[in-house]
Order: sequence, then structure tokens, then C-alpha cells
Amino acid sequence: MAMLLLIPLFLSSIALFTISSATTFSTHPGICYGQLGDNLPPPQKSVSLITSLHAKRVKLYDANPAILHALRDTSLQVSIMVPNDLIVNISRNQSLSDKWVSDNVVPYHPRTLIRYLLVGNEVTSSTAPNGTWPYLVPAMRRIKHSLKSLGIRKVKVGTSSAIDVLEASFPPSNGAFRKDLSAPVMKPMLKFLNRTKSFFFLDVYPFFSWSADPLNINLDYALFQSKNLTVTDPGTGLVYTNLFDQMVDAVYFAMNRLGFPGVRIFIAETGWPNGGDLDQIGANIFNAATYNRNFIKKVTRKPWLGTPARPGSALPSFLFALFNENQKPGPGTERHFGLLHPNGSRVYDVDLSGETPEAGFRPLPVPENNEKFKGEIWCVAARPHNATALAAALAYACSQGNGTCDPIQPKGKCFKPDSVFWHASYAFSAYWAQFRKVGGTCYFNGLATQTAKDPSYGSCKFPSVTL
Ligand SMILES: *[C@@H]1O[C@H](CO)[C@@H](O)[C@H](O)[C@H]1NC(C)=O
Ligand SMILES: *[C@@H]1O[C@H](CO)[C@@H](O)[C@H](O)[C@H]1NC(C)=O
Ligand SMILES: *[C@@H]1O[C@H](CO)[C@@H](O)[C@H](O)[C@H]1NC(C)=O
Ligand SMILES: *[C@@H]1O[C@H](CO)[C@@H](O)[C@H](O)[C@H]1NC(C)=O
Ligand SMILES: *[C@@H]1O[C@H](CO)[C@@H](O)[C@H](O)[C@H]1NC(C)=O
Ligand SMILES: *[C@@H]1O[C@H](CO)[C@@H](O)[C@H](O)[C@H]1NC(C)=O
Ligand SMILES: *[C@@H]1O[C@H](CO)[C@@H](O)[C@H](O)[C@H]1NC(C)=O
Ligand SMILES: *[C@@H]1O[C@H](CO)[C@@H](O)[C@H](O)[C@H]1NC(C)=O
Repeated sequence: MAMLLLIPLFLSSIALFTISSATTFSTHPGICYGQLGDNLPPPQKSVSLITSLHAKRVKLYDANPAILHALRDTSLQVSIMVPNDLIVNISRNQSLSDKWVSDNVVPYHPRTLIRYLLVGNEVTSSTAPNGTWPYLVPAMRRIKHSLKSLGIRKVKVGTSSAIDVLEASFPPSNGAFRKDLSAPVMKPMLKFLNRTKSFFFLDVYPFFSWSADPLNINLDYALFQSKNLTVTDPGTGLVYTNLFDQMVDAVYFAMNRLGFPGVRIFIAETGWPNGGDLDQIGANIFNAATYNRNFIKKVTRKPWLGTPARPGSALPSFLFALFNENQKPGPGTERHFGLLHPNGSRVYDVDLSGETPEAGFRPLPVPENNEKFKGEIWCVAARPHNATALAAALAYACSQGNGTCDPIQPKGKCFKPDSVFWHASYAFSAYWAQFRKVGGTCYFNGLATQTAKDPSYGSCKFPSVTL
């Protein structure tokens, strides 16, 4: 009798669970909470900022205990990450995988709503020979196994991929994974994701595609603002109205090609920089606000819009990022993806619930760098500066290239003023003028900055980059 009663109860609770999870699955974007800054607010404060943006989910790039603790008893769904450098060992050792889950999930589950566990970040983008690719899917399987053996079933296991997993992406119906990844990594990964009903976690940045080719790609098309410009895929007849859909569908078609049309895509990162260097185009507050607001409108719309290849499908996502992070290396845009300044104030108005109408936002500053910069740029030491760090950067710059620092040697034309600040400014300019074309940046751990004002004086002529 008890058994007979139990079975229908059990079934109906499954039915209820299914219905409620279907109706509550939110496509309100989450937010990526990166921590590469030395001036960011503490976890508790950051969590309240995340809530004030109306985010429903938050993605961490590790399993930071203080943050997972601060997220306890909130309604935020959380994505945590196994660091790239543990992938090889975890792939070889089930006990290590079990230990990672015991240390990083169990103490917080279920009061912190850990729902996604990403094994590595853009592992397939690494160009290192003999990278961790062969170990990626085995590590994902081990982590899933660990969760299962601990009775934790609500956590989807995946890994984030950049768009460079594709070797062809245009038109979208040509979408195909890179040959070096396709059979050894993508196929077993898709099999795993399909079997475990997880997602293909994808980082999508129309900004990078557009800024690499701004003459041929329309800015409004990249910002979801194009009223009249469409791109028709000759292979399918599908009509595209924005670059984001094009990029996402290229991945759908690549998955389709490998026989996995049903794996869902989760946008693990998307966004637009609110600032950048002089030699970078289109990184400004106006474009960042426009992209993110339009993206939010798109994914929160009911019924779901999906993409041309998957109309009506839900597109869960994380916007990148919560804060401008001052310690991210690379070009200036890297440090300017935040919705918030490190002091918690908004870079521009934005509402991740999609419920604030455009008229409810304060006006945006007029964009001033939507055209490529034309002229000369120098790379000089930034103020205020740390003399010890600057001296080390100066020594490094002088050790690179050909005759980089000859003019700042005694008797050289730029020896005077004999100060670390001026010598470093010369050396940075000379370094950057030689190496920019091969990817050298004007950064030096934040000690350098670009300027359009010629620092040359007297007979001392600083090398420059001409755009
Ligand atoms: C991986 O395991 C090897 C051998 O056990 C060890 O030497 C190495 O430090 C481990 N790597 C990491 C990142 O823990
Ligand atoms: C596997 O990981 C466990 C837990 O960290 C460790 O004690 C053990 O030595 C590892 N085994 C090998 C063969 O590295
Ligand atoms: C590196 O990759 C090559 C080619 O796949 C393989 O032959 C070699 O054994 C690998 N080396 C290591 C250390 O994994
Ligand atoms: C994907 O998963 C579904 C159901 O879980 C299964 O029926 C299908 O065969 C899987 N597809 C592939 C290609 O493995
Ligand atoms: C499309 O609209 C823009 C303004 O939004 C206008 O500048 C452009 O000329 C239009 N192009 C066509 C082909 O109608
Ligand atoms: C926060 O930082 C931004 C950027 O540095 C600055 O413009 C703003 O005035 C600061 N706001 C407060 C309240 O300090
Ligand atoms: C200056 O830079 C040095 C070397 O990078 C570092 O050890 C030191 O802490 C820095 N000082 C300050 C005040 O930031
Ligand atoms: C330095 O000079 C050598 C030989 O002239 C040349 O091969 C090399 O490309 C130069 N390096 C740079 C950074 O210009």
C-alpha cells in the first residue's frame, strides 16, 4: 500500500519539477565576476552590486571560497571553474577529481546555488604545442562522475570555448570546427554534453570581429542596431540582422556537421568594451551600453527569439563583465569591459532584467572613436608611476629589439633628462614602434600609456607608430 502511494507521489513530483523548471528557466543574462583587479570591492559588496544589476546568475573564474560563501542563501545561480592548470592531473586521477569537487562544491552546496561547473577557460584557444586539449574531455567526464557519486545532480559540467574553435564561420551554414580540434576534442565533447544534457558554453564577441574589419562590417550590425542592413546566408536562405546571431549560428552549424544538432548553446561571455587604447576603434561607453542593452532586450524577449537557425530557442548567457579589471594584461579594451567601475558606480545605466525602458536610462556620451585613429602615436610612461617597477620595465624594453635604447645611453641624444621616467618613455616608444606589428602592446603591466602628443624635444626624436 505504502509502495502504491509512493509511486504516484513520486511521479507527480517529477512532473511538477519538470514544469516548474521549464517555466522558471530564466534567460535574464548573468554576469561574469572576474577578479583581476587590485581595487575591487570585497565579495559581500560585489554580490549586492550583482543583485542591484538584476542579474540572475554569476560566473566565477575559479571557486573562490569567500565569494561562494557570500553567495550563500542568495537566489543567484552560480557557475564555478576548474583552473586550466589542473585539467591534466584531474583527467588522470579520479581521486583528485573527487577531491576537487569535495573541496570546492560540497562545502557550499546546496545553499550556494552552484549550477554550472566549467572545466577550464578557453582551453582550446591555447596555441601551446601539446596543450591540454587531449585531457579536456576526460577531465570533464571525471568531474561529472565525482558530482554524481556525491549525489549532486543539478550541476551541468561544460567548458568555455572561444569562437576560434571554428575554422570557418561565414556564411554561418559553412560553420565548421578547426581540423586539429574536430575529431580529437569537439566530437567527444559534444557526445558528453549531449549525453549529460549540458550546454556548449561559448564566448561571443562581435566587437573583436567588427574591430578587425570595420570597413566591411557595419557597426550598427554589430551593435544590434541595424534597421535596414541584413545578410542572407546563400546556403540556407536564412536572413541575419546582426553579427551576434551570425557567429552563434556558425557554431550551431559546426555542431550539426558533427551530428549533434540538439546540444544547446550557453553564451558564457559576451560584451563590448567601454574604453580602450588610442589605436583601438569603437571601444566607448556609447557602444558598450548600446550593445549590452540590445543584447539584454534580445535574450529576455518572450516568446524567445533564438537565432535564425534555432528560432524560438532560449539563449542563456553571462555578460562580461561586472567590473573594469585593472590588472588584465593586453590592449586597453581588456581592462574596460565592466558594467561597473571598481568603486561600484555604473559606467552607464543598464538593467539585466530588461525591464527598464530605454527612456529610463540617462543619456550616453557621444562616441568619439568609431572611426580608426589616423596619425602618429607614442607609447610613454604613465603617471603616477612606481620607480622600482618602471626601472624593471625599462630594462626589459631595452633588452628587446635592435638598438632600442641606444639614444638614452650617456652621450645619446635622449640621455637627458637622465630620469627613469623619461628613459622609460623613450624605451617604451622605441619598443612599441618595433613590435606593434607583431602583436607587441603598449602596456608594461599598466606602466605605459599611448599618447598622440609627441614627447620629442630638441634633437631627441621619439619613435612612433603611424596609423
Ligand atoms: C600534477 O601532478 C604532478 C605529479 O603528481 C605534480 O608534480 C604537479 O605539481 C601537479 N600539477 C598541478 C598543477 O597540481
Ligand atoms: C591522485 O590524487 C590524489 C588526491 O589528490 C593523490 O593523493 C594521489 O597521490 C594522486 N595519484 C597519483 C597517481 O598522482
Ligand atoms: C606531443 O604531441 C605529439 C603529436 O601529437 C606527440 O607525438 C607527443 O608524444 C606529445 N608529447 C607529449 C609530451 O605529450
Ligand atoms: C543525444 O542525446 C539524445 C537523448 O539524450 C539521444 O537520443 C541522441 O542519440 C544523442 N545524439 C547523439 C548523436 O549521440
Ligand atoms: C540604412 O539606414 C542608415 C541609417 O540608419 C542610412 O544611413 C543608410 O543609408 C541606409 N541604407 C540603405 C541601403 O537604405
Ligand atoms: C568611481 O570611479 C569612476 C571612475 O574612476 C569615477 O568617475 C567616479 O566619479 C567614481 N565615483 C565615486 C562615487 O567615487
Ligand atoms: C612598486 O613596484 C615594486 C616592483 O614591482 C613592488 O614590489 C612594490 O610593491 C611597488 N610599490 C608600490 C607602492 O606599489
Ligand atoms: C633585428 O635585426 C635582425 C638582423 O638585422 C633582424 O633579423 C630582426 O628582425 C630585427 N628585429 C627587429 C625587432 O626589428
